[in-house]
Amino acid sequence: MTQRAAIEPFIAMEVAREASLRAAAGESIVRFDVGQPHWGAPAAALAAAEKAMRSEALGYTEGLGAMVLRREIAAMYAREHGLDIDPARIVITTGASGAFTLAFLALFDTAARVVIASPGYPPYRHILKALGMEAVIVEADVADGLQLTTTLLQQAGTFDGALVASPANPTGAMLSRDDLAGLCAAMRVAGKPLISDEIYHGLTYATPATTALAFDDDVIVVNSFSKYWAMTGWRVGWIVAPPRLVKSIERLAQNLTVAPPTISQVAALGALTAKQECEERRALYAENRALLLKELPGLGLPPVVTPGGAFYVLADVAAHTDDSMAFSRRLLAEAGVAVTPGVDFCATRGRGWARLAYCRPGAEIEVGIARLALLARG
Ligand SMILES: Cc1ncc(COP(=O)(O)O)c(C=O)c1O
Repeated sequence: MTQRAAIEPFIAMEVAREASLRAAAGESIVRFDVGQPHWGAPAAALAAAEKAMRSEALGYTEGLGAMVLRREIAAMYAREHGLDIDPARIVITTGASGAFTLAFLALFDTAARVVIASPGYPPYRHILKALGMEAVIVEADVADGLQLTTTLLQQAGTFDGALVASPANPTGAMLSRDDLAGLCAAMRVAGKPLISDEIYHGLTYATPATTALAFDDDVIVVNSFSKYWAMTGWRVGWIVAPPRLVKSIERLAQNLTVAPPTISQVAALGALTAKQECEERRALYAENRALLLKELPGLGLPPVVTPGGAFYVLADVAAHTDDSMAFSRRLLAEAGVAVTPGVDFCATRGRGWARLAYCRPGAEIEVGIARLALLARG
């Protein structure tokens, strides 16, 4: 195996594989594991894709993506955030995942050091490593909602950039407007790029999320149709890049993937008209979230921080185990409940944590809680 390929697995996906195998074999499995809405793309996205399949050749789009979609995303920033973003700065990608590869390659050379808070989404550090870059992991404090802070940045030593996500995975924790502004300012002073992963924007339950673009035009924003629009398998996302980076991202995109999938871009265009459907779904996540926040403490699984957004609760499992990986295996095998062990997100403290995703039907969440209750009693 090459050194580049010698990266850790994305444990959430491994748990998902095991859970899917068991479900396919006829076992009843409650899926608190993958952050994947079960209902799929909004109706308007499906209708747009169906029409295009019958009437269009669906050849390559431009490497940067279809201009019509880039324009509509820009219009959304105007509508939702009051921001005037030039569509030329918007790059359509194969999900947020494809966006990270393009952004990291456009921003950093090999051996670059990129600051990331732990706990965090595992592929950040794994993609950086595969690209010959270094994730500088800083341990975030529970008192700071397990988010990156300017103090942690100061403690990180020399670095070439930083990445932040709000709402975050695995915690659902959000940065306040002031804290995000503070991070943007600190990075501007340091003269280093900040990547803001905004994939859970739209999925908030108290205060709406602020885009880093509100504070700084030089940030690199990553977003995706996977979560709010429930289009995980369509693999379509975007970057808002500073103008100086667009040319290099275009070259990378043309060469690495030629263009993002055309049918998915058509569907995404449809999805942008589906606000009502997406909001109805968000209301259901809000009910699931409330139920979990009410029940989990009584099961000895209290949330580590209060989730303001996304569709995750990071639960403290220390009352049950000091090995979240073994705990997750046991839950799956004995209770038919799939959760993601915290070690996926934080190698150290994650042994005492597990992540529960609540983007499934409420009835399934209730069954999951009942099974966890049996386990807690037994
Ligand atoms: C924080 C975060 N960023 C990025 C991604 C990747 O999303 P996509 O499906 O758009 O590649 C995920 C997926 O779970 C995520 O949680």
